[in-house]
Amino acid sequence: MAGARSARMRHVAERSRLVRPLVDRFIAGALERDAVATARRLTDEDLLVTLDYLGEDVMSADQARATVAAYRSILKIVGANGLGANVEVSLKLSAVGQSLGTGGEQLALDGALAICAAAAEAGTTVTLDAEDYTTISSTLKIHSRAHAEFPWLGIAIQAYLKRAEADCQELARAGCRVRLCKGAYVAPESASYKGGAVSDSYRRCLATLLSSNAYPMIATHDPAMIDAAKSLIAQFQRSRDSYEFQLLYGVRPEEQRALSAENRVRVYVPYGDEWYPYFMRRLAERPANLRFFVRAAASAVTGPMRRSGTSVGGVE
Ligand code: FDA
Repeated sequence: MAGARSARMRHVAERSRLVRPLVDRFIAGALERDAVATARRLTDEDLLVTLDYLGEDVMSADQARATVAAYRSILKIVGANGLGANVEVSLKLSAVGQSLGTGGEQLALDGALAICAAAAEAGTTVTLDAEDYTTISSTLKIHSRAHAEFPWLGIAIQAYLKRAEADCQELARAGCRVRLCKGAYVAPESASYKGGAVSDSYRRCLATLLSSNAYPMIATHDPAMIDAAKSLIAQFQRSRDSYEFQLLYGVRPEEQRALSAENRVRVYVPYGDEWYPYFMRRLAERPANLRFFVRAAASAVTGPMRRSGTSVGGVE
């Protein structure tokens, strides 16, 4: 997670050809046409898609406006290609100015409203991602304002935060689209759970959402969480169209297909140039990916890896 904020590591990763295959596993590509091609391939397999235009924590209002323009552009393509029923978009509010200080929240609300209007025209929906714990109250506020105009606007809740259960209870209302994930950021102990307590919180939030009239979006690859969701779906007799599972592009693709035999399954598909922070969060979730990345990055700095299989430059 520290690597996600390291300018030096970013510089190395973005230039290393050895890192590229690992990036390609998680990212559809740099261009809109890459995103649309991937979305088509997945929807042809009866999977749903949410497209994420990569980029976060923009530094200026101009960058925030550029993000809005990028979303409007992809949504126009989604609409023109008749993909609106199966392909929505996910939005990080920090990519439309939320963290810009005074005026940032209003800028993010305006951006979110513009993107929602474009989604409505394309016949699809938007879901707000959840980011750093310091932004959650602001994200819920923006969601509540925009939801009044666009009742299909979804929001992500991170089970690792101690506030998650209360937030789920607030959102457990008819038709409210709530994505439940474990959380991919770091928060202080006072605000967050660790280890098994995250799964316990996830289960409690699942029960709150699945016992309500909300539309839960169950975002996890964890077999234990998937099984817990399946039991609750049976217990509360949820119809197939009243919830969905969500998984990340490139993670457990065989499980995505298996789940889709009996459930709606949506794949989160990131695209664009700004892949570094998203990619680093995926590495942080899985040590095996991280080991491969460190070896490839070290090789880019020190030259090709030694044949003997010993570690490179002491990095391992
Ligand atoms: P866990 O991390 O325990 O993983 C379970 C198993 O899944 C692993 O053992 C492994 O097999 C596989 N796996 C998981 N991650 C992997 C990876 N990166 N590479 C390879 N295998 C992997 N977070 C957030 O803070 N805000 C958000 O808005 C979102 N949005 C979101 C949308 C969707 C559709 C998903 C699936 C996830 C998110 N997340 C997120 C990320 C989420 O919070 C969490 O970090 C990851 O999903 C990993 O947690 P799991 O529940 O998958 O369990």
